[in-house]
Amino acid sequence: MRGSGLIFTVAVDGPAAAGKGTISRALASHFGFAYLDTGLLYRAVGVRALDDGRGVLDPHWAAELARRLEEADLEREGLRTGRAGRAASKVAAIPEVRAALLDFQKRFARREGGAVLDGRDIGSVICPQAEVKLFVTAADEVRAARRHAELTEGQSFEQVLADLRARDARDASRDAAPMVRPSDALLLDTTDLSIDAAVAKAIAHVNERLDAGGA
Ligand code: C5P
Repeated sequence: MRGSGLIFTVAVDGPAAAGKGTISRALASHFGFAYLDTGLLYRAVGVRALDDGRGVLDPHWAAELARRLEEADLEREGLRTGRAGRAASKVAAIPEVRAALLDFQKRFARREGGAVLDGRDIGSVICPQAEVKLFVTAADEVRAARRHAELTEGQSFEQVLADLRARDARDASRDAAPMVRPSDALLLDTTDLSIDAAVAKAIAHVNERLDAGGA
């Protein structure tokens, strides 16, 4: 059992459908750390903006929705759809939206007892001092095939692949906290690595850092 005062952040970044969520959940459960899927924050804001008819392109309104966000909003249905993912990556490019979600994520990262956060800017912006940084990726076609199997909206594989590439390009090219691979992150390429093998590598890496820190 780790000390309850442990401050230890695992920052997991990477493009859509690379396996970040699965690896993060497995790490959180293995080490007893709290877990935050930060994509859900942007998905919740994006879906709200679509549903109330104002759309995702009014930056002030999207930022207002981000400020009003509550934890219960992350439990809403429909946040895992392609529609929500597209809306998320649009509101995520708005600096005021990111600013409104910053404090919550920073506090979550440094809470006592350890935390795993996954997203696009965790190791670069939210928690540059994270004890462990992982960058999880995989070939576009492999990620699209995984996403295609999960989605229930009847999209073709080609549509899912095109969507995913458009979303990656938007996430990597925006000015506000673009997706980057931090130079000190361990790279996990899950193209040919099974999820169990990726989780085992991630666990070993976290253990090394915990041991090095005397936790
Ligand atoms: O990870 P997920 O696919 O749920 O993320 C949805 C979208 O939210 C991403 O495409 C990205 O635009 C945005 N996002 C972000 N920063 C994060 C997490 C997600 O910009 N930390």
